[in-house]
Order: sequence, then structure tokens, then C-alpha cells
Amino acid sequence: MNIKLSLLAIALLAVSDLHGQISGSCVTDVLLSAYSERSYTSVPVTDQQLDLILNCGIKAPSARNGQPWRFTVIKDETSMKEIINNVVPGNVLIVVSGTESQGGTTPDFDCGLATESMFVAAHGLGLGARIYGSPAANINSKKEFFQIPTGYKAVVVLRIGNLDKSVDGVSGATPRKTAEEIINFKK
Ligand SMILES: Cc1cc2nc3c(=O)[nH]c(=O)nc-3n(C[C@H](O)[C@H](O)[C@H](O)COP(=O)(O)O)c2cc1C
Repeated sequence: MNIKLSLLAIALLAVSDLHGQISGSCVTDVLLSAYSERSYTSVPVTDQQLDLILNCGIKAPSARNGQPWRFTVIKDETSMKEIINNVVPGNVLIVVSGTESQGGTTPDFDCGLATESMFVAAHGLGLGARIYGSPAANINSKKEFFQIPTGYKAVVVLRIGNLDKSVDGVSGATPRKTAEEIINFKK
């Protein structure tokens, strides 16, 4: 086979491979490997990382593009500990709050989308993250202290930080239901 034919054969093989099977992207890799970490080091999340994560939250889709959220960033250890007792310095908490009035829209759902975007962004940057719903009631009972904007209520808290890689979080990650249990294709 001459060199031109060999190159053509390689190109055809590459194209057929592209059409024959879908390989993952960096986004799907992050989605499939991320889990909800609990163990962090005190290496601080940088301002640049935090900015990028917050921008991913701002960019999230929402019903009628209502963007019914506010993000309250908490870094001081005392306030963080009032929310999640095992935080370590260097963690950052983002309280995601939604509008109190529903007005025919879906603020809690939209806040969930923004939170997931930031959760995925944190993992994409090599950080750990975990979403917490249970502290919302406590935060909402002390809105002034946590500086939740007027007219909003805390929905969830996103914790981000640098992973403690000496702790095996992966094998403790929560298993998922099987595709057969979850998905049905209408015949
Ligand atoms: C809306 C929401 C609320 C959650 N609230 C809490 C919480 O209050 N405390 C907690 O430890 N984990 C909380 N989690 C984390 C879940 O337990 C975790 O995402 C789930 O078990 C899957 O774990 P994995 O991602 O490690 O597989 C919450 C997750 C979501 C999405």
C-alpha cells in the first residue's frame, strides 16, 4: 500500500470510529466520576476557583430565565461551623437561596440547577464538593446573621474544598439504582 492509501485508510478508520461509538467528554467524565465528598484538607479554595464556580452558577438555566437565586459566600470558620460542624478552614460554603414568592415559577428547582452547575464546576477544577439541604432551616431562622438577602430563603448549601486524598471517599460513595429500575422506553 502506498503512503497516500495508508493515510486514507487511517482517516477512514478514525471517521468510522467517531460514528460507531460515542466517547465521553471531559464534562461526562466529571459527571460520572464526581461524588459527594466529606473529607477535606485546609488548603484554601482560591478566589479564582471560587469566581469560576460562581460564574457557572450564574450561567445556569432557569424558568423564563428568572434567575430566582442569590448566592451567599461564607468563608469565616465560625459562621461555617454554625452551618456544617465538620468544616475545615479553607472550605467555602455557598448558600443558595431562592425567592420566597413562587409567582408561577420554580425557584427551588432553578436553585437546584444552579447548585448542580457549581457542584460539577468544582469537580471539574479538581476540588471536592457536597450539597447539604439539612442546614437550610437553621440558616432561615437566622437570615440576618447569615446575610441572606431580603425576600429570599436558603434552599441548599454547597460546600467546596480541596480533597483529602488520603481518605477513600469513592468506595463509600452512595450506589445508584440500575438503569433498568429507572429508565423505561415507551414502546
Ligand atoms: C438536595 C440535596 C440535599 C442534600 N443534603 C445533604 C445533607 O443535608 N447532608 C449530607 O450529608 N448530605 C446531603 N446531600 C448529599 C447526598 O446525600 C449525596 O449527594 C448522595 O448520597 C449521593 O452521594 P454521592 O454523590 O457521594 O454518590 C444532599 C444532596 C442533595 C442533592
